[in-house]
Amino acid sequence: MKTVKKAIIPAAGLGTRFLPATKAMPKEMLPIIDKPTIQYIVEEAIESGIEDIIIVTGKGKRAIEDHFDHAFELEAKLEEGGKLKLLEEVQRSSRVDIHYIRQKEPKGLGHAVWCARRFIGDEPFAVLLGDDIVVSEPPCLKQLIDQYETTFSSVIGVQPVSDAETQRYGIVDPIYRDGSLYKVRNFVEKPALGKAPSNLAIMGRYVLTPEIFDFLEMQETGAGGEIQLTDAIGRLNEVQNVFAYHFTGRRYDVGEKLGFILTTLDFALKNNELREPLLHAMEQLIARDNMPKVIG
Ligand code: UTP
Repeated sequence: MKTVKKAIIPAAGLGTRFLPATKAMPKEMLPIIDKPTIQYIVEEAIESGIEDIIIVTGKGKRAIEDHFDHAFELEAKLEEGGKLKLLEEVQRSSRVDIHYIRQKEPKGLGHAVWCARRFIGDEPFAVLLGDDIVVSEPPCLKQLIDQYETTFSSVIGVQPVSDAETQRYGIVDPIYRDGSLYKVRNFVEKPALGKAPSNLAIMGRYVLTPEIFDFLEMQETGAGGEIQLTDAIGRLNEVQNVFAYHFTGRRYDVGEKLGFILTTLDFALKNNELREPLLHAMEQLIARDNMPKVIG
């Protein structure tokens, strides 16, 4: 059996929800406290046993390559200054080989994944999206890889969302479940409100068999005028099993503004240095906001 050792991280989207910040800076480089979101994703891949990562980039995404490059001068300075903890942080992603490919035009997530087909070849592989950070033990991707190793089939990570949120996600139409694993009838990308077949939403973590590329190759544009990965997964499911797996762990939506702010707050509250000063500052902000306005 071929094991899952390669991962694709699509990062060529326009990041319109964070404009103007993303005009010249990739959305994937926006930090949660002091770490770019894409580094959380790379670390999850490493901790799940991935050995090679290909990041799909596009126009204006140079900062991602610079970020994962060796920073010899910086590393030497940190070592000299005895800042070993920071040095370890800076070197953390060097445990994996990172490759890059360009998606010339942002035609959709499905197209971005297809761009990496030659790098993947004839192996099962993972896809991780930077819009979701998952904090879990074992890591979210490792949970999916474990399922792949018992089913030998594609496995898509899902978690339930509220009825109102289903229209923002790819949603699965389950047939039956065995524990946390679902056999799926179909996958629907961004169903209209009230039309979702379930509340199980795809959360940016996938293990896919290489046959997906045959379907991506002929996939026409779908929701939002983009080539959708969800649509190709639906077609793959017609010829081989594709399972959905309800992974455990806390999922943070960093792809939209409120989610990004809440994630930053939650991570800061879990940080020993920041927790107390943040709570104090928040109390002051709230008190100031509630003060009656002084006129004149
Ligand atoms: P999103 O739709 O969340 O990202 O795509 P976006 O398009 O950058 O953001 P908004 O909606 O305009 O604010 C999910 C993931 O797929 C990648 C994105 O970079 C993101 O990580 N993607 C999307 C591509 O790589 N190429 C595409 O053509 C579209």
